[in-house]
Amino acid sequence: MNNTPQRYTITAALPYTNGPIHIGHLAGVYVPADIYARYLRMQGNDVAFVCGSDEHGVPITIKAKKEGVSPQDIVDKYDGIIKKSFEDFGVSFNNYSRTSAKVHHDTASAFFKKMYEAGKFVEETTQQLYDEKAGQFLADRFVTGTCPKCGNEEAYGDQCESCGTSLNATDLINPKSAITGEVPTLKETRHWFLPLDQYQEWLDEWIVKGHAHDWKSNVHGQVKSWLNDGLRARAVTRDLDWGIPVPVEGGEGKVLYVWFDAPIGYISSTKEWAEREGKDWEPYWKDENTKLIHFIGKDNIVFHCIIFPTMLKAHGEYILPENVPANEFLNLEGKKLSTSKNWAVWLHEYLEEFPNQQDVLRYVLTANAPEAKDNDFTWKDFQARNNNELVAIFGNFINRVIVLTNKYYSGIVPKPNNYTEVDEQTIAELKAYPAVIASSIEKYRFREAQGELMNLARLGNKYLADEEPWKLIKTDEERVKTIMYVALQIASALATLSEPFLPFTSAKLQKMLNFTDAESKLSAKEHSQWDKIATRDSLLPAGHQIDKAQLLFSKIEDAQIQQQLDKLEATKTANAAENKAVEPQKKTATFEDFTKMDLRVGTIIEAHKMPKTKKLMVIKVDTGLDQRTVVSGIAEHYKAEEIIGKKVTVLANLAPRKLRGVESQGMILMTENAAGKLVFVNPDEDGVEPGTTIN
Ligand code: MF3
Ligand code: ZN
Repeated sequence: MNNTPQRYTITAALPYTNGPIHIGHLAGVYVPADIYARYLRMQGNDVAFVCGSDEHGVPITIKAKKEGVSPQDIVDKYDGIIKKSFEDFGVSFNNYSRTSAKVHHDTASAFFKKMYEAGKFVEETTQQLYDEKAGQFLADRFVTGTCPKCGNEEAYGDQCESCGTSLNATDLINPKSAITGEVPTLKETRHWFLPLDQYQEWLDEWIVKGHAHDWKSNVHGQVKSWLNDGLRARAVTRDLDWGIPVPVEGGEGKVLYVWFDAPIGYISSTKEWAEREGKDWEPYWKDENTKLIHFIGKDNIVFHCIIFPTMLKAHGEYILPENVPANEFLNLEGKKLSTSKNWAVWLHEYLEEFPNQQDVLRYVLTANAPEAKDNDFTWKDFQARNNNELVAIFGNFINRVIVLTNKYYSGIVPKPNNYTEVDEQTIAELKAYPAVIASSIEKYRFREAQGELMNLARLGNKYLADEEPWKLIKTDEERVKTIMYVALQIASALATLSEPFLPFTSAKLQKMLNFTDAESKLSAKEHSQWDKIATRDSLLPAGHQIDKAQLLFSKIEDAQIQQQLDKLEATKTANAAENKAVEPQKKTATFEDFTKMDLRVGTIIEAHKMPKTKKLMVIKVDTGLDQRTVVSGIAEHYKAEEIIGKKVTVLANLAPRKLRGVESQGMILMTENAAGKLVFVNPDEDGVEPGTTIN
């Protein structure tokens, strides 16, 4: 634990304002960031915890088009919903701004201009993808295609979400417009590029050799692999009409790339906050002693570890991040969370169905946080953790302590007598917890930290169960005073140490323990001081009056869980119905067209996963003609050993194509079943529905 106050700027990824917030966002970014910020404040640090709505970018304009409204309408709607969800769940931002705010437009424009004037950009006319039908350039999410690195067929024009690679739209194989479905043409246009290649060496020194040795390994690993692949210049302007206008000559009709303006939103949000609080914003971004920490999901790593730091460095006045503790992804009942497929637990809906149970969700999401690998949220686990941990351990202990203190002593903390060995031991253990929990939090291991918090509740629960004051009260009243005093000290420590994790519960508990009672010898401030728990003689002194018991947690019934599962089942059915309708029939093919394709039966004789890819499998097929290599994107659906010996249909005369350096000499025909699994073509197989395409 550090005892000298320190200035921290903590940022949480600005959410895109094209939909509400779901549990994946909360688990991956906002709960961990909030735990960290609350903890640092309790340690007496100077914390600016900032966020805001990310209101530019292509997904918002696509959504607006779909709904027949303006992009501004979309962002106004979701900014309100998102902001409210954060408040409802106790995410304690010092400021939540939006990138449509004037302060942000001004800040981002000035940032660009300063870099422009200092000659930090490369200006170039290049061929960019263009959709003739829509009369519009295609970049970012306006275009999809096959990722040149991993073979994912649904990569976007700025990034492949499957392997995380950051792409230029022209890198995509078989690009397709997301607006009209047309194959784009190329058209010349002039843009400003951030020459990342010129910063490669510096980044290597700063991150890989310097800083990142203590960053999380998932973050460190990704950054290293990008640097190994070599960085290329990236355009930071776009031909769009939604965004921040390019503020220099020749910029008419163009806007800043959303990933250029959005991270500057952290700075704008800090300014907005400082202005309101009468503070100076600059030390939070310019003082070398400030620690800048970015909380993000793994799909944002390249932007926060490479692109934004390069911008900050090129601009010249700013500090660089101290750490970027990115999380992996959370799944829901075994499937990837998806806003467009409505596969999610939306925060605003959760609160309607589980009113006032924010802490339960925070607890479960932290207990299952995808800190080192993707993780799964299931409703059964949610119920079990609530009933077996929060209710049976934490809630049960607190309830016993408060009820008994009221019953035996009218709520006045009794004066203890001599401690037994068990008492001494229990107090010693209790005093070790603040440092243990702090050390996990400081290493960004929030699930471990919360696990220790529960261990403290277990300590209390076991102490009461072993000492049985409710029995002794009949025979040894003096001993019971000591037991209740010790138990009250544990309850008091829990009230303080739970604050970062379970802020609503902590507040209720602090009220039950009457922390703010003016008569008390301790001020509320002292109570909230983390380290004092280990050093203070008494956390809750004898003679202090506590309040009545209130219920902290309540049991969740099977029926409530079933209702949630039914809801997801209905989503699945709706999606399956919709999926069927999606692929319209292709243009008529003549018999001649058909005979051009050489389809053969083949046998798979060897297979192995391509190293460093998620999806690709290198397969050797005996086609009867020869034995040849085919690279296929099925590694997430089959293990190599499962497919050896299988008979498959091969398109033998498909023009060869290199994938990750391996030449693929043909294609194995696959289709997708209703559960989204790629399967070898066999229409009789379970879950393969009429209308499913074969490719
Ligand atoms: N809107 C982006 C997303 O949801 C995150 C932006 S983070 C910022 O993935 F750095 F740009 F602010
Ligand atoms: Zn990829």
